Amino acid sequence: MSEPTKQGVEPRVEPEPLAGRRVEPRVLRVPTESRSGANYYEVCLGRGLLSELGGLILSRCPAHGYGVITDSQVVTRYGAVVLESLRTAGGEVQLFQFPAGEWNKTREVWARASDEMLRAGFGRDGAVVALGGGVVGDLGGFVAATFLRGIPVVQVPTTLVAMLDSSIGGKTGVDTPAGKNLVGAFHPPALVVIDPETLGTLPAHQLAAGLAEAFKHGAIADAEYFERVAGSVGAFFAHDMDALEWMILRSLEIKAEVVAADEREAGYRKVLNFGHTVAHALEAITGYELLHGEAVAIGMVAEVRLGERVGVTRAGDAERLSRALEGARLPTELPADVSADAFFRAVALDKKRAGGVVEYTLLEEIGRVARSGDAWTRPVPEAVAREVLFGG
Ligand SMILES: NC(=O)c1ccc[n+]([C@@H]2O[C@H](COP(=O)([O-])OP(=O)(O)OC[C@H]3O[C@@H](n4cnc5c(N)ncnc54)[C@H](O)[C@@H]3O)[C@@H](O)[C@H]2O)c1
Ligand SMILES: [Zn+2]
Repeated sequence: MSEPTKQGVEPRVEPEPLAGRRVEPRVLRVPTESRSGANYYEVCLGRGLLSELGGLILSRCPAHGYGVITDSQVVTRYGAVVLESLRTAGGEVQLFQFPAGEWNKTREVWARASDEMLRAGFGRDGAVVALGGGVVGDLGGFVAATFLRGIPVVQVPTTLVAMLDSSIGGKTGVDTPAGKNLVGAFHPPALVVIDPETLGTLPAHQLAAGLAEAFKHGAIADAEYFERVAGSVGAFFAHDMDALEWMILRSLEIKAEVVAADEREAGYRKVLNFGHTVAHALEAITGYELLHGEAVAIGMVAEVRLGERVGVTRAGDAERLSRALEGARLPTELPADVSADAFFRAVALDKKRAGGVVEYTLLEEIGRVARSGDAWTRPVPEAVAREVLFGG
């Protein structure tokens, strides 16, 4: 797989696209090879955009009806404004909600939402609006990917994780008892609308979980960004909107560049899995008690330690990473009650194994992923990982 290219991924301010608009969104175009024939989708970012969602969606993703899929928490805060905005703009809308929480990102909930949409009479000219965090985005996106063999999805992320990571890239799916995200599909969104003001109601630990993915973007691609995120943590927790917008935009740019170079994860996109081999195993073992971002924080430190141990990662970077994550109120050590046996069983079930030996995305240093020939992951023998992560 070749180096990332910048295939037209550039943030730019669009001229006023709709009459009467109050919010001037920033627009990022993400290249895609979607089956609909579009060669990019737009990510619109702007404060207060939620109340203008209807106009944006109707003009950029016209559909006969919109199924708004959301969870029980998000609906209480943002359901009404989204429904009203869509209806005012002239959209036919139905709401579908499921109980909040990672443990509901399942085939059962996917089936229920799909059945409800069928009963409500949605056809191939319908579209899904996924309103919520990464759980809603992954599940709602998967409903859209499979509904009558695929209808458009508009991603409207309301958590930091979803805003700067999961809403773009097109990965959708659900968890199974065997592990995370094991059933799913690539289904790039038709449109992504981000209103950072919705972060105002997000609990601090959920905000921290999103910062873990921002640190990940810095660690794999931009050391300067990594340091700037580390230095701005206070502003993020104080809900400084300028700081949050700046961070979301830079993270999206980094992710968009990676996805543009390798949308279906033939090779290079695996750099985004930094920290995630360990994280997915931890999430599965702990029954999703850890937030995804918390597991990623622990996973990144663990994988940098592995890199240092096998001589791939610059010595001292695990310490540098830990300090930054701790500064953002994130955990950095494996939970004490996780046993090595359970851990390696879960790791082996995760889809990132190749030929029996588990592959990890290793850093060369903070800001750069280690490459080995054409590969962006490296096998690390279990005995070595055991020693580094569990002391033998
Ligand atoms: N598809 C991808 O590329 C990708 C990338 C990263 C993560 N993910 C997935 O995303 C999921 C994690 O996403 P998440 O961290 O957003 O979790 P989440 O969707 O469970 O949201 C966290 C909690 O915050 C609540 N919430 C959402 N928005 C809120 C708001 N504005 N105010 C108050 N509460 C709000 C939700 O109801 C939920 O209880 C995982 O399943 C992970 O696998 C997917
Ligand atoms: Zn992640």
